[in-house]
Amino acid sequence: MNMSFSRFQQGTCAPMDIKSKEVEAGVRLLREGRLVCFPTETVYGLGADASNPNAVEQIFNLKGRPANHPLIVHLGNADQINSWAQDIPPVAWKLAERFWPGPLTLILKKPPSVPLQVTGGLDTIGLRVPAHPLALKLLTAFGGGVAAPSANRFGRISPTRAEHVLEEFGENLDMVLDGGRCQVGLESTILNLATEQPVLLRPGSIGTTQLAEVLGAPPELMIASRADIRAPGLLPSHYAPRTPLEIVKTEQLKQRIRELNELNLRSGLIVLSRVTADVSNRVLNETIEMPSNANSYARDLYASMRFMDRGGFDRILVEEPPESNIWSAIHNRLHRAAHQTKTGVAANE
Ligand code: TXA
Ligand code: MG
Repeated sequence: MNMSFSRFQQGTCAPMDIKSKEVEAGVRLLREGRLVCFPTETVYGLGADASNPNAVEQIFNLKGRPANHPLIVHLGNADQINSWAQDIPPVAWKLAERFWPGPLTLILKKPPSVPLQVTGGLDTIGLRVPAHPLALKLLTAFGGGVAAPSANRFGRISPTRAEHVLEEFGENLDMVLDGGRCQVGLESTILNLATEQPVLLRPGSIGTTQLAEVLGAPPELMIASRADIRAPGLLPSHYAPRTPLEIVKTEQLKQRIRELNELNLRSGLIVLSRVTADVSNRVLNETIEMPSNANSYARDLYASMRFMDRGGFDRILVEEPPESNIWSAIHNRLHRAAHQTKTGVAANE
């Protein structure tokens, strides 16, 4: 089948009535066991019918993702968690009420009815109701659960625009629903509720302070050494561009750019401050000045990393963002992206 790529004015969401036909087509494809890429408020997802093990298997094949890495199941509304989880603690309902639809994934106990392919053999399952109107429309019309990882090749940068999905998979896709630019831009916060105490597995735009308002106390933080490496977001080198990426403190940035330029190495600069942006013209560097607001920075980060990754630079230098709490998901992703450069360990090997 030819890929159907529903392109609409870039950077905007198409009016929902215009998208109805595509959503219908998407539902048909899901029912046939095919893959449908769809926008969420965080990043684009590569979706399959979560109740169809053959369909789910195709996700792993296309992404090049090991079969024992669990997927998140996306639902059209919170009531559906009754069909996709068991022994649901009351706090899950409270969190769902407060944060869904939205960028929060809850890890709950998996009922026997859910195929083990979805959870990579684990007895727990990740569930979320995404906030993007097109995702909700697709999920509601489909009626079931849609298993969807981020629509990128394993270990690479998550897509925040429909064209990023095409960059990743080219013509190997049945359908990409174009919902414009993802508004959050970083993957969902993941909270494990299958443990005795809630544990934060992946920081996201819903922070520990907000979670504490419902939980009564901040969640425990995942200790890296205890990380189950089957959860790919927890692997140190996840979210990596191909170009080596370094995080550089503001005061060291000029010096580092000079050092690289002396070696005739070109840098792609992702910076916060104008001062550091124009430092040397001897070697052709390129600069993206990022928004100083954490939410806008998060929204633009992956697109900026992708832009620099395409530019044929020798290094991507990222000016270290502020340390405060609201930047913690950003720090998390940047440190994972820089891991390979720092350690020489290739992504996910
Ligand atoms: O924002 C998001 O969460 C995006 C959009 C598409 O919803 N999805 C996403 O999926 O980031 P993925 O597959 O790239 O990352 C999902 C992460 C896994 O890396 C894993 O860490 C965690 O979810 N996960 C899923 N099920 C789990 C489980 N049962 N136990 C522990 N972690 C789980
Ligand atoms: Mg991912």
